Amino acid sequence: MNPNKALWEKGDFTRIAESMRDSGEVLVKDLGITSGLEVLDLGCGDGTTAVPAARLGADVLGVDIAANLVEAGNRRAEAEGLTRCRFQEGDASDLHELRDGSFDLVVSIFGAMFAPRPFDVAGEMVRVTRAGGRIVMGNWIPDDPTLVAQILKVSAAYSPPPPEGFVSPMTWGIEANVIERFARAGIPEAKISFARDTYNFTHPGSPSELLAVFRTSYGPTMNAFEAAEANGRGTDLQNELEALFNSQNTSASNDATSIPATFLRVTVTR
Ligand SMILES: C[S@@+](CC[C@H](N)C(=O)[O-])C[C@H]1O[C@@H](n2cnc3c(N)ncnc32)[C@H](O)[C@@H]1O
Repeated sequence: MNPNKALWEKGDFTRIAESMRDSGEVLVKDLGITSGLEVLDLGCGDGTTAVPAARLGADVLGVDIAANLVEAGNRRAEAEGLTRCRFQEGDASDLHELRDGSFDLVVSIFGAMFAPRPFDVAGEMVRVTRAGGRIVMGNWIPDDPTLVAQILKVSAAYSPPPPEGFVSPMTWGIEANVIERFARAGIPEAKISFARDTYNFTHPGSPSELLAVFRTSYGPTMNAFEAAEANGRGTDLQNELEALFNSQNTSASNDATSIPATFLRVTVTR
């Protein structure tokens, strides 16, 4: 089994996505979506950005490597009667099933960054975007002090080293890497802009409860706990992550969670 697919089909990312819905909607409202715009949401999960884009009238295709998330996305679209929003399986590193220049807007929020072969990913995003169209990516930033970068950093310290030649997804959060990858796909630096943006993870329970959701449902965290437990260090990992989640909670109540996480927003004009 493709390890990239296995990682994201492990657990149930929809449970994490529930904590990201509000920020997904805010981000989509800022994309200038108009009725009939052809949108590709790449690495779409269960549609945190695809569904609100369709509510604004766009024709949305969500593509994701995980079959369970594609199914969940289609269920959400059907439940809302969004007939112009559909989800299908695909790999951001090789979108051979999609025609050249078929989308006005390609969105990938913490999605394509997790695909292998980043140069191929940039090439495919550019290929399927029409001339004059846009690509918007949200990418976590390595060593950033906020939630997700820290979860991934702490988890890596408890996990075996990655295989030889592995390119960290976090390199998509480094501007020079982004510029180099899109340059290889024919996009000059002047057509790329960067901004720091924030996603808020909200949960109607304590930070420890949100961590429990990550521990049981988020593939990368599940793998980190499996590796830590195999070395008798599961409790250390739990304690470190619990301290992280609690220290970053900005909610006034201890029984509710709101944790901001900074990301790099990349906009490319084709
Ligand atoms: C952190 S989740 C984000 C999901 C969604 N964009 C959101 O904002 O909720 C990462 C997503 O990327 C998908 N993904 C990972 N590797 C992929 C690949 N090679 N091609 C397409 N999707 C991929 C995962 O299955 C998962 O749904």
